[in-house]
Amino acid sequence: MSTPVNTPARQPLLAVRNLEVTYAGGAAAVRGVDLSLDAGQKLGIAGESGCGKSTLALALLRLLPAGTRTSGEILLDGEDVLTMKWGRVRAVRWAGASIVFQGAMHSLNAVHRIGDQIAEPILLHKKATPAAARRKTGELLEHVGLPAARADAYPHELSGGQRQRVMIAMALACDPRLVIADEPTTALDVMIQAQILRLIEQLVSEQELGLLMISHDLAVLADTCDRLAVMYAGRIVEEGPARQVYDN
Ligand SMILES: Nc1ncnc2c1ncn2[C@@H]1O[C@H](COP(=O)(O)OP(=O)(O)OP(=O)(O)O)[C@@H](O)[C@H]1O
Ligand SMILES: [Mg+2]
Repeated sequence: MSTPVNTPARQPLLAVRNLEVTYAGGAAAVRGVDLSLDAGQKLGIAGESGCGKSTLALALLRLLPAGTRTSGEILLDGEDVLTMKWGRVRAVRWAGASIVFQGAMHSLNAVHRIGDQIAEPILLHKKATPAAARRKTGELLEHVGLPAARADAYPHELSGGQRQRVMIAMALACDPRLVIADEPTTALDVMIQAQILRLIEQLVSEQELGLLMISHDLAVLADTCDRLAVMYAGRIVEEGPARQVYDN
């Protein structure tokens, strides 16, 4: 990508170069992917089931199972995630970048109140006092459109859409610069889906975050994202402005 001559060269928030991922005993699931994302930008990744979207998302934060081979570069603010020490990776997973997964129910712990689950990374990674973490948790809940008092609820006491809002609050808990959302609304009905997408969009633009949103639904991505990349069999086969890629 070329930089216009009159603007100083700027380091992208995320730069992925020639990323290859091969599962143990399997074929390559990601084959030479290049990506670039700036703060405040929303990049959508579309593609048929099994083309490697989730593998790519997991690779970005080194969440792939042991035995998986990964090569290339994943530069987050210029720092290569693939060569970081584990302690640094753990810190980056909250404060640098965080993931919202499909099907929030499975990611929330059923026996803990949601407020405690949101507060945990704040206590751990931000070294906040319990009172400050509780305050921040209330703010985060209100930010995603839930009353602060819902902090005392258990996951089963919330609707699917509310649980997905809690997942987003958790993803934002440590003020990440990049949010990766892998099918964040697929399990939800169309009305709630639209609400959650609008919420994600709003949070990203308010806080100048980078958003990498994965979906098999091209229309959803075209509505939410600035740019769109289409994956096929582990490769990016098309990339460009969202509307243009969608119309093609
Ligand atoms: N843990 C794993 N071990 C081995 N192979 C895997 C593993 N996870 C995924 N794969 C394989 O890697 C390829 C890419 O899978 P991936 O989950 O990234 O696809 P996807 O694009 O996210 O699909 P979907 O839209 O269905 O979520 C598939 O062929 C899949 O079978
Ligand atoms: Mg997937």
